Amino acid sequence: MSELKQNSCDVLEAIARRHSVREFRPEPVSDETLLALLEAAHQAPSAMNHQPWEFVLVRRPETKAALARATSGRNAQVVQTAGASVVCLASLRQADALADRVEAQLRAGQAPPEREALVKRLREDETYRQMLVLPNTYIAVANLLLAATKFGLATLWMTGFDGEQVKAAVGAPAADYLFAGVVAVGHPAEGWQQPARNRRPLEEIYSFERFGEK
Ligand SMILES: Cc1cc2nc3c(=O)[nH]c(=O)nc-3n(C[C@H](O)[C@H](O)[C@H](O)COP(=O)(O)O)c2cc1C
Repeated sequence: MSELKQNSCDVLEAIARRHSVREFRPEPVSDETLLALLEAAHQAPSAMNHQPWEFVLVRRPETKAALARATSGRNAQVVQTAGASVVCLASLRQADALADRVEAQLRAGQAPPEREALVKRLREDETYRQMLVLPNTYIAVANLLLAATKFGLATLWMTGFDGEQVKAAVGAPAADYLFAGVVAVGHPAEGWQQPARNRRPLEEIYSFERFGEK
């Protein structure tokens, strides 16, 4: 956490400064910086604190090339030119670990009996398992993007890949992990023109008290 504290910055500033960058110059990102980004990712909240996120840091040209083969077009170019890429994985093993934890609490009388139903879903309901670990991993990835902004680094979060091919490229056990994207991390190319922020009007996305009421 020390690295995080020393590098603290206004979260609204980081949110405002973060943009998707799609042209990079091939300059490396140090392992120390990559680990600081993961430390930020790892502080994310998660349901019942099950922490499903795992990451593979890619810096070698041959691994970048293997990632590029799992996508096409601009995404392929981005992973090959960015200093590093972070393969983001959602661990189904953490759904099992959570089931183990709740089961132990039940045995010790530290959880209400209705938690049996949760254990059953965590063990048997594949959709529930996936809908638990994937969105919770996305929260950690969002943290990573904001932390990179603080370090003056550009990012692009990409899910336009063949996830199975990505898992194979980095040797991740396919059955136990869901693909949550590849985040390119690095420095923008000279002359990269940042498009203006494009968002739906704020008024369109909120209501007060009742849906549709301003
Ligand atoms: C889950 C997710 C997947 C994305 N996948 C891709 C992708 O495969 N390729 C790409 O160029 N951009 C991808 N993006 C970037 C979005 O296009 C981008 O966030 C959006 O256009 C808003 O622009 P901004 O990030 O600059 O605010 C992805 C973003 C997210 C959050």
